[in-house]
Amino acid sequence: MSNERSARGGIDAVSAAVLAMSRHREVRDVLQTIVTSARELVGAKYAALGVPDDRGGFAQFVVDGVSDEQWKRIGPLPRQHGILAAMLHDAAPQRLHDVRTDPRFEGWPSAHPELADFLGVPIVDGDEVLGALFLANEECCDPHQGSAFTDDDEALLRTLAAHAAIALTNARLYERSRELTIAGERARIAHELHDAVSQKLFSLRLTAQAAATLVDRDPQRAKGELKEVARLAAEAADELRAVVVELRPAALEEDGLVAALRTHVQVLDRAHAARVAFTARSVRALPSAQEEALLRVAQEALHNALRHAHAGTVDVLLEGRGRGAVLRVRDDGRGFEPTAVRRAGRHLGLVSMRDRAAGAGGRLTVDSAPGKGTVIEMEVPGG
Ligand SMILES: Nc1ncnc2c1ncn2[C@@H]1O[C@H](COP(=O)(O)OP(=O)(O)OP(=O)(O)O)[C@@H](O)[C@H]1O
Ligand SMILES: [Mg+2]
Repeated sequence: MSNERSARGGIDAVSAAVLAMSRHREVRDVLQTIVTSARELVGAKYAALGVPDDRGGFAQFVVDGVSDEQWKRIGPLPRQHGILAAMLHDAAPQRLHDVRTDPRFEGWPSAHPELADFLGVPIVDGDEVLGALFLANEECCDPHQGSAFTDDDEALLRTLAAHAAIALTNARLYERSRELTIAGERARIAHELHDAVSQKLFSLRLTAQAAATLVDRDPQRAKGELKEVARLAAEAADELRAVVVELRPAALEEDGLVAALRTHVQVLDRAHAARVAFTARSVRALPSAQEEALLRVAQEALHNALRHAHAGTVDVLLEGRGRGAVLRVRDDGRGFEPTAVRRAGRHLGLVSMRDRAAGAGGRLTVDSAPGKGTVIEMEVPGG
């Protein structure tokens, strides 16, 4: 920087750069703003910022002062070598009269701009080197006259680098939290699809099989089963739509929890060999998230009982308790070892039931043992 620039000017320039950095939330944009600000701040012709990876290269490398054209011609990203490596490893600034005469200089690709005077400052957060800023060829000066970068330039750049560390860390946290949100959303959709849609399709498959075996023998009943197939398919389509637009299950919206459960149980009773029965006792209205969780858990517990247990009877009870309610799904089937299943870890049903119970502020217990049948109980606190 030219000496006549006042300290005040320097502070203004750094402050403008910091504001510009904080306006961006994507890591890539933050990096680009840092590098452009750095170049303008000290009046260099070229600037670059490298974020190292742990394999001796750079995860990101952004430049300023080089045209896209020229950047392409330069070829692949540099490795961490020579002066770049020294800065990353020692986390110390480097100010050189002529980078080409430094013993650590190892050359550059033919299309690389000719750099002479050089100022490099690491961007550090605690012990971690997040990246390094490199500036070259002070614009105001004759490159043949030695290093043009001054103590002031270095001080300004150190200040910028300290802010850059914060901006970069924030941008990374932001991206990470967005990734987590997306992952959470994916898990939610997977659970919804599993609980709502795959069960309907399972019942649909059974009903279609029943229709196929009846079609010659008893066309009239086959017709009835086919009507059921059409109805289940329509319900599956509704559920799918509800998952996609995050609606409450249609049945709950229209009829409330008790009626929705009763209908669901009746459908299963008709579609499966086991006897499936429903009892409701003094249930009050519950917050909608709790109703939804109860319905989904009941659906999965029923589905498991019908698919895995080979039960003769499945009983569903919904009963008011305090301000809340308890759901119990009991089958007299073959039972299983809950801890062994949890260890095997590849099933979504039990995991999803637990998640839903916890998500609604309730709790879930699975009581089962081989040869003993299964009781799934879920309690929610009410409003
Ligand atoms: N009521 C039950 N009676 C007997 N075994 C059961 C019962 N419920 C669950 N299981 C056993 O526990 C396992 C895990 O159940 P879970 O619902 O988590 O997964 P899944 O039903 O196999 O697959 P999905 O992910 O489609 O639900 C089942 O595979 C089954 O072996
Ligand atoms: Mg299951």
